Parts: sequence; C-alpha cells; structure tokens
Amino acid sequence: MQDYPSLCCGGTELTLAAREGDRPRLVYAGPALTNAPPQDLAALRIRTHAPAGPEVPIEASLLNPIGSGFPGPPGLLGHRDGRSWAIDLRVTDVEVSEACMIITTADTTAGLTATHTFTLEPESGVLIIRTSLRNDGQSTFDLQWLSALCLPLDMQFAQVKTFGGKWAGEFQCEKMRLVTGAFLRESRAGRTGHASYPGLYCGTAETGETSGLTAAFHLGWSGNHRLRIDRLEDGTLSLQAGELLLPGEALLGPGESYHAPSLYGCWSREGYGDVTRRLHQYVGAMVRPPRPRPVHFNTWEAVYFDHEPARLMALADQAAAVGAERFVLDDGWFGARRSDRAGLGDWAVSSDVYPDGLEPLADHVRALGMEFGLWIEPEMVNHDSDFYRAHPDWVLLAEGAAPIPSRHQWPLDLTRPELCDYLFEKIDSLVRELGLTYLKWDMNRDIQHPGGSDGHAVMHRQVLAFYALVDRIRTAHPSLEIESCSSGGARADYGVVSRTHRVWPSDNNDARARHSIMGGAAHWLPLSTLGSHVGPRKCHITGRLFSMEFRAASAILGHMGMELDFADESESDRATLASAISLHKRHRGLIHAGVYHRLETAEHIAACGVVSPQADEALFQIAVLDMHPGPHPPQIKFAGLDPVRRYRLSCIWPERLSSEPANFAGSALIEYGLQLPQTHPDTCLIYRLEAAI
Ligand code: DGJ
Repeated sequence: MQDYPSLCCGGTELTLAAREGDRPRLVYAGPALTNAPPQDLAALRIRTHAPAGPEVPIEASLLNPIGSGFPGPPGLLGHRDGRSWAIDLRVTDVEVSEACMIITTADTTAGLTATHTFTLEPESGVLIIRTSLRNDGQSTFDLQWLSALCLPLDMQFAQVKTFGGKWAGEFQCEKMRLVTGAFLRESRAGRTGHASYPGLYCGTAETGETSGLTAAFHLGWSGNHRLRIDRLEDGTLSLQAGELLLPGEALLGPGESYHAPSLYGCWSREGYGDVTRRLHQYVGAMVRPPRPRPVHFNTWEAVYFDHEPARLMALADQAAAVGAERFVLDDGWFGARRSDRAGLGDWAVSSDVYPDGLEPLADHVRALGMEFGLWIEPEMVNHDSDFYRAHPDWVLLAEGAAPIPSRHQWPLDLTRPELCDYLFEKIDSLVRELGLTYLKWDMNRDIQHPGGSDGHAVMHRQVLAFYALVDRIRTAHPSLEIESCSSGGARADYGVVSRTHRVWPSDNNDARARHSIMGGAAHWLPLSTLGSHVGPRKCHITGRLFSMEFRAASAILGHMGMELDFADESESDRATLASAISLHKRHRGLIHAGVYHRLETAEHIAACGVVSPQADEALFQIAVLDMHPGPHPPQIKFAGLDPVRRYRLSCIWPERLSSEPANFAGSALIEYGLQLPQTHPDTCLIYRLEAAI
C-alpha cells in the first residue's frame, strides 16, 4: 500500500496521505506541480502545536467526521439509534492505477466503511470524486449527510462565482467574497432547480478570465443538494458538496450502502476561461452528439396548446423553407391536453385533435426533409386525466402536509416499478411508431413533498428511478436524442447531462436576456448542448420587441432553433432568419467543436466566441445590450487566436454592417483590440477570423 498515493494527468495533480490505520488526508489537489514528490508536500504541511489547542494538531481528513475532532463542519453525519455518532474513519486499503485511485476507510466500532474513488480524466484534467458509505453493523444506520468529500482548497481563493436565479432568469452569475465562516447554497426544489445551480467557480482576488488560479466544482445530481465552502479561523478553506437528504431518507440496513452524487473538480492557473474550456472538453466527450446538431423548429411559442394539424403542417413548410432540420412537436398533442389543466399521464395521441393520429404530421415533416421530435413530461400527472383517475395513489405526497399545487400537476412516484414500466412502454411505442429521433423531456414543477407509498421520503430514489428510466429508453433506442428541459434550465446538472444530449437553458427567448443566460450556462456546458432559439418579435415573457437581425444573431452560438409563428413575421424578417440559419449551418462545425472563449468587456456588452483547435478560424459574437456610456464604443480584445499569425477579420453580421476582410496580426487583435463600430443597443455583431497564412 502506498502512503502517498498520487495521480497526475491532464494538467491536474492529486496527492493523498493514506497510511494504513491513519485518517486519510488530501495533501494536494490542483494544477499539476513541477516534479514535487508527494512526501515533500506532506512534510511541508506539518503544523506544530497551537497554543491552547490539542497537543497534536488535528488535520483535515477526507470526511472530517465528528470522531476526528476536526473543528469544521463534518462531511459525514449520522447515528445508529442515538449511538455511533462519533465516527472516526481510518485507512484500510489503497488501490492506485494510472488515472484512478480508490481509498477505503473504516470505523470498526461504528460499523461503517467509506470508499472514495478518484478518477482523473486524462484529456481535460477533470477530477471525478465518488464516495460511498456502507453499513457494516447489525442495526440500521441513519445517514443524514454525506459530502462527496471535504475538499481542501487553496487558501488564496478569495471569491466564488455562483449561478442561479429563477424561471426565465436562469444561470445568472453572481460573484461573492469568501469570508471567515460559511458560504452555503442549498436547493430543496426536488429537481436540480432554478434558484441554485450545483456548481461554483473559485478565484483569487486577482483571478481573471485569462490568468490566475481558478477552480470549479460541480455536483452531478438532479435532486436536492448542498454546496458549501468553509473558511476556518486559521484561513483554511474547504468545500463540501452532496445531496440534501430528507429525514429518514437514508436509513441504511445492515450491509446496505449509500452512494453520494459525483463531485467534479477542475483547476487551472490560467483563469476562469481555461477551467470552462476543460469542463467543455469533459462534457463534450461525455455527451458526444451523434451528428451535426440539426436546426430545430419547436412549436411551443408558435401555437402553445392550440394544436391543429393543418396549421402545424403549414408551420412545418415555413420552418423547412427557412432551413429547419428538425420539427419538435411540443406540449398539447396527447389526451385531453387542451390546456395545462388536463391530460398529463395519458400518453396517447389525442383523437379529438389528431383524428388520423400523428403519422400524417410526422410524414409531412419527413417529406420536407426534417426529423420529427416530440415533447413529453413523463414524471407528472394532472388530476384531470384517465391515468390519475385509475391510479390516484401513485403521486408523491407527504402525510399531514397540505399538497402544494403547481401548474395543476403532481409528481408521480417513480419508485413504483409498475409506473416506470408503464412509462417505458408508452415512450418506447411512441418512438417506434412515430419514428422519433428526438424527445424533449420536460419536468415542470418542484417536488416539495417527495413521500412514497409507505410515508417515507423517497427523493433520492426518485432521482435514481428517473435516471434508470432515461437509461432504459436510451438502451432501447441508442440513436434517439433526448433534451433535458424542466421548465427551462431547472435540470441541467452533470447527472442528467451525462445521459442526455441537450438542455433547454431557459424559457426566456428574449434576445437581450438570453446573453446572460447562455453565458452563465456556458460556464458548465458546451455550446453544442445548449438550445438557443429565435423567439417571436415581441417576446412572450418580457414583452420586449427586438428586430429579427438581433434575435437571429443572438441565437447563433448554441444549438440553434426557433419557436415562433411565421405569420407574425414579415417576409423580410423570414429572409433574415433564413440567412442567419444558413450562417449558423456554415459555421456550426466550428461553433460546436471549437474552443470557447469569453471576452472581457464593459458590462453592457456580452462577447464570446469559438476558435478552431488549430487557431486558424474563429467566430465571435459581440452583443451591444445598452447605450455606450461614452461617445464612442470600446475596443474589444479577441482571445484564443495565435499571436504570431495574421488573420483576415470581417464583420459578417448584421449584413448591413458586413465588411470586406482586413488583415491584422493576431497579437494586435489579442493585446490591442478592435474598435467597435457605432451601433444602436440590441445589435449583435458577428466577426469571422481566418488565419491568413
Ligand atoms: C416548459 C418548457 O420549458 C417549454 O419550452 C414548453 O415545453 C412548456 N414547458 C410546455 O408545457
């Protein structure tokens, strides 16, 4: 057994102290060090007695349970009928291979074994931490909290960037200073949630987009969660991330285990941007969409619940004419679903609306050269549905607590295998019979009371059952793509992202608001996975009016689509839309596989772009979202280019501002920057750069 097991690849290094019988310690996790032997690091960290403190200083261990005496908050909490609460885990086994390390620890008195698996992804350097706890005792262990780890952070970290918001205002990035005490974010939404995304970035006071020590952490879990960073009085910092368990939810019987959600960590010395790119690399390889992302037409904001086959066929004609490649039929096609008050649970095509079934529409769509996709919300039921009338006891409720109505729908108890079989059969036959290539999987309410049939909280098992259902459908239909929607943005964590192909970041198609939503989401997810739609001229959510020129260009950097009624768009706006879609298609290889860069700009400008891996091609989107405070717009410094090459730079959008390419040194574009032209607010400029030599 190695005393100092270590992993180093993809630019990340991890070293532990794990001598048999000792408490395991994380010595270092961060950007790779230059040939620093692990025992040197451990020796450099030795502390002496602190006046008035314990005779031997108490070092942080992997979970800091109460028995270790560590003064910070424990990463493991639980008890066995009021006993076994002072847990003290000691190393029993260490296994190390090239990119993976497994540390097993046990407390034989408390009757617990904790196992930590650390995997370093060789390309991106992303570290994945998986922790489980097994009850080796003879009685039930009531587990109340298990963080994936108590992960020490560099003491220089002084700020966090967190992400959250609300429906239609998701992924808003907030910067906060880390003070002594706790930084705490929790979500009790019963899904990943809008308010608090399970990921954060850390930086020093100096960290910027392109330089400085940075780390990002993400909990891959689609249920209740907690993220915290504690700075103790000695200045040390540590992160915890885990599932927020409900009382009695994790009662481990003898021999039973609890698996904490995976924690993802990523470090860099090259600023926030480099960490984002590493995460994109990791997620991109995990999602790996099978082919170029087809441009979507989605029916939601065009017709809502007002389905009428002839109108939908006409919309399909118009969508194909502007360049759509996939037609996604949204909510309203099934059962008695003429509004959000009825029908959820009855997953059969409505014979009132579609007397000949959906096949004629699907065939029409395919005849136009588009794929056919369908919306579904399997986890929910309306009281006004045949399914609920047949199974009124299949919803999640908590004894004694008044049920909380939300969009007239109720969460079903997925821990019932017979329910999952029903849902699987329904989805399976829809996919087969309609030749679906795409499912938009929605989930439109929080789950406040996840009580199962025996009265126990089942939130943990509900999330696992949801994953199992998605996995079962993916196995039965390997080429089917699935979008994780959840009211827009409320289920976009790596747990769900690892088993789906795209997320719908927000219902808000307001082109101005969308820039901060997409920018926030892109801290975690690559552009190929982020749905980005051109919405109606007057945004249905904000009531603001935007030109097609601005709406279309704002949707180009993402998985592009549209959801609007063509009848409300002028002929010239439709032509503008077609031209933006064709621009997207010309460059989507670069947009979806290129390297993403945020540009540092004034607050009223949102700027980002993609650069080819060889740095010979780039596309940047620069959105002016308000009046320039001064008489002239600022200069914009590009990023990701090769400073020693020359580039042909041209403005390719809006078409009225297009310019002939002009030649510039990469270094000048990066270090000096381009003077932006005078424009009105709500103008989105697209610049293309091509290496001249
Ligand atoms: C919420 C989604 O985010 C929308 O795009 C749409 O699918 C509606 N649900 C349908 O109910």
